[in-house]
Amino acid sequence: MRSLKNILVTGGAGFIGANFVRFVLEKTDFKGRIINLDKLTYAGNLENLSDIEEKTAGKNYFFEKGDICDSEKIKTLFEKYDIDTVIHFAAESHVDRSIHGPKEFIETNIMGTFTLLETARTYWKDKKEVLFHHVSTDEVYGSLGETGFFYETTPYDPRSPYSASKASSDHLVNAYHHTYGLPVTMSNCSNNYGPYQFPEKLIPVMILNILNEKNLPVYGDGKNIRDWLFVEDHNSAVWEIVKKGKTGETYNIGGENEWENIKLVHTLCEKMEKRMKKESGYYKKLITYVKDRPGHDRRYAINCDKLKKELGWNQSVDFNQGLDLTIEWYLSHNEWIQNIQSGEYRNWIEKNYQER
Ligand code: NAD
Ligand code: TYD
Repeated sequence: MRSLKNILVTGGAGFIGANFVRFVLEKTDFKGRIINLDKLTYAGNLENLSDIEEKTAGKNYFFEKGDICDSEKIKTLFEKYDIDTVIHFAAESHVDRSIHGPKEFIETNIMGTFTLLETARTYWKDKKEVLFHHVSTDEVYGSLGETGFFYETTPYDPRSPYSASKASSDHLVNAYHHTYGLPVTMSNCSNNYGPYQFPEKLIPVMILNILNEKNLPVYGDGKNIRDWLFVEDHNSAVWEIVKKGKTGETYNIGGENEWENIKLVHTLCEKMEKRMKKESGYYKKLITYVKDRPGHDRRYAINCDKLKKELGWNQSVDFNQGLDLTIEWYLSHNEWIQNIQSGEYRNWIEKNYQER
């Protein structure tokens, strides 16, 4: 069992990163410090952690605004906080955006990961008990046909600029381990959902469009399949890996919960019809098939036996319960939604968090 002291979490103001910070500080016995480094792009939102900031800032939680591509900033943080663990979530994360403009994906996902690895390698030269954990995606493995699963040994076959940039960062992490002996672990996870997810990904897009009675855009024939996992289950897996995972190893994390997009959208409509007391079929009428995403991966499905057998991890939230929780969260966080959608949030950030 590793003893972690000063953890640099990158991208801790984003969806999974913010849930991770919350999980570690509220649900584990971790006694060290978390330093959250985030550039606060459109997807980074300090409101995701405002209660944590209020309760624990300056004690065991510290926020630092900055870019993972900025080597001077990273070096300063390693020295200032004597970082012994990096848990690297920061990334450009949305496939559609990567299709419209891949440059930022190359910069942040590849150059940013490289910059973190270089700093870790230099700063940790004579240190023991250090770890670089890289958070990645199952999308690096490509697209499955009707059967089969992604294993840790599945050859990489990324097909979007997003997955290609993540694959590239995964290779760099492995290369730093093999070439320089940097202690690393890595995880490749399936699609996450839950509170604080930016409303550009399927589930929050659908929930918010249903609420506003807007069209529900389903790409292509709606039969693409994703394997959904509640965000806290992803984070409990990452925590198990950084505590107990074998150095140099990759672990797949998944929901073992495959859904065709259209079936999932139907389920969300039905749940919302019940919740909002509408007649059956009321929201389903909003479903609109739209032009397919170019290069749209057909099916993802993870085999996560290694994680289950070696580290004893398991999913704890079933999909029905997780979707209900997520719907209730969006229904009760109207201000969060308004702020994100109005741009006021950005102005607030500019005023309150200049580069420190
Ligand atoms: P997100 O887009 O919600 O959050 C990304 C965070 O990174 C934001 O806070 C953003 O401000 C920050 N960031 C972006 N560029 C940065 C930079 N250059 N420097 C510092 N911070 C920067 O993403 P997410 O969905 O929370 O994903 C987190 C990680 O998990 C990513 O590495 C992603 O590839 C991986 N992942 C996501 C999923 C999923 O379903 N969302 C599934 C598997 C793996
Ligand atoms: P998304 O949430 O963008 O995740 P990813 O592309 O990383 O898997 O999309 C999940 C699936 O839903 C994917 O097959 C694309 C599809 N999709 C839609 O049909 N409509 C939408 O509005 C969105 C955002 C996604």
